[in-house]
Amino acid sequence: MDRITLSQYRRILFFTGAGMSAESGVPTYRGKGGVWKEYDYEEYACQKAFDRNPEKVLRFHELRRQAVLDCLPHEGHRVIAGIPGVKVITQNIDGMHQRAGSEGVIELHGTLWRLRCDRCRTVVEDHGKSYETLKCACGAWLRPDIIWFGDMLDPVVVRKAKRSVEECDLFISIGTSGTVWPAAGFPALAREWGAYCIEINPEPSGGREYHRTIAGNAGAVLPELFIF
Ligand code: APR
Repeated sequence: MDRITLSQYRRILFFTGAGMSAESGVPTYRGKGGVWKEYDYEEYACQKAFDRNPEKVLRFHELRRQAVLDCLPHEGHRVIAGIPGVKVITQNIDGMHQRAGSEGVIELHGTLWRLRCDRCRTVVEDHGKSYETLKCACGAWLRPDIIWFGDMLDPVVVRKAKRSVEECDLFISIGTSGTVWPAAGFPALAREWGAYCIEINPEPSGGREYHRTIAGNAGAVLPELFIF
């Protein structure tokens, strides 16, 4: 494999999706074994479902937290965390990058480890296997602080992410099907702003925005790819 000399780049950005966590044992959303094949998002991952039956939706997310805690970050996560000054934008809500030691991770789609009250705007960090409480002190149900189907992304987070994409000179996309917007537009944005763009995916998207495509798994490719 042609290796990348990291000192040639000043601003390296990793952009990750569910495939990044696949080798840790966290299922992807689409494709074989995908979460949305087993569960109907209209029952578990949209505001309407939460309004209809908050406890059912919370229990679903609690199960996902338990499944994630049973998994560990893999060597690929550790490689990313070990590159000084690197930026990470992830669509993942599992917190794996942080568990591997990455800092300042931009979580485009929120996180399993935070709840919020849409009535009084309280935000609660909660990292346990089970939720400490399902209700806010004000009496309303707490809602997983995640971007569900039909939700708007947080504009502050999107602005921050886009700025990082525009500033980077090496953009490495890993494990995303590139089907969910606005994230799906980030590779093209990076290329437009002059970054060298790479995709790592066992089933590459074939997107023309990539200068280079590496057909392989994140956990196998990342430890071999860089010259430090
Ligand atoms: N290494 C790299 N890529 C992998 C691996 C692996 N080991 N295993 C699978 N992949 C790739 C698949 O080929 C696929 O292209 O990961 C991608 C996973 O795609 P999706 O399941 O669609 O995940 P993602 O793109 O992150 O989904 C985006 O959709 O449902 C929403 O909010 C959810 O953040 C999620 C968003």
